[in-house]
Amino acid sequence: MKRLYFIIISLLISLVTLPIVNAGPQEDLAAYQKYFNKKFPDLSAVDLSNGMYNFNKDKREQWEDIMSFPPYEIAIDDGKALFTTPFKNGKTYASCFEKGGQAIAHTYPRFDKKSGKVKTLAALVNECRVKNGEKPLPYLKGKLASILAYMADTSRGQLMNVEVPAEPAALAAYEDGKRIYFTRRGPRAFACYHCHWEAAGSKIRGNELSTAVGQATHFPTYRSKWGGMGTIQRRYKGCMKNIGAKPLKQQTEAMNNLEYFHTFLSNGIPMNAPGTRF
Ligand code: HEC
Repeated sequence: MKRLYFIIISLLISLVTLPIVNAGPQEDLAAYQKYFNKKFPDLSAVDLSNGMYNFNKDKREQWEDIMSFPPYEIAIDDGKALFTTPFKNGKTYASCFEKGGQAIAHTYPRFDKKSGKVKTLAALVNECRVKNGEKPLPYLKGKLASILAYMADTSRGQLMNVEVPAEPAALAAYEDGKRIYFTRRGPRAFACYHCHWEAAGSKIRGNELSTAVGQATHFPTYRSKWGGMGTIQRRYKGCMKNIGAKPLKQQTEAMNNLEYFHTFLSNGIPMNAPGTRF
């Protein structure tokens, strides 16, 4: 009898936990898209990539004005010049990337089988420099952001396509990124999830909150507040600081896993990077 109870209870537990344990990235994504679709039935997936400008008409108009002379264009030109200028050894960045680095940005971050870790495009640009005898560049802005802006521009219009291969280490990285996204931090215990998911579309301190799905399509981005370009990890750090939490350090395993999960959320939406935000 005891044995029977045990079996029944085990079965019940597995039924309850099944959807959580077994949900793979694709099932997650479908559920997340459905959530935002239901919350904002008038917004298409492409609309979601316009972030907070979906929720405020005046700001939307101002933003469209700015976009008629996009402030990120200088960065694309600078990035192209940097990308095509040979290193001291005569080689260029193109030698480090498939397709010479053209139209690949929408497929990053990627899980790297060799190291068993997530690699961001920013990290690979620096790896390329080091391999060719150059010093790595600072990760959050400046020259590296310009190079990424140029690379992203060659992917403009391509559907975001971050792959999570069906192997344990890749899935673990994805799950870790997800965990970080849902982790409460700072004195008021906010998770990314609270603002960009639950409260998406509502206002906080004068800012309408953008939706998690669609957020990763336009990085690196020119921000008026920064007076220049910044990478997606610069933005993450900003949000962590704003909630009074100690920001994770750029290009650490945790930050890269967060970027992996968060960018995956925009899969299927056209890349429109670099972008512009206030
Ligand atoms: C207390 C609320 C709050 C929390 C928590 C928060 N953010 Fe934000 N975030 C904002 C606000 C406000 C903005 C600016 C308005 C907007 O674009 O949503 C923003 C903007 C962003 C953007 C830029 C969106 C765009 O369209 O360019 C990204 C990306 C982002 N947050 C990611 C995160 C991540 C990742 C976390 C968790 C580490 C996080 N945020 C936590 C409030 C928050």
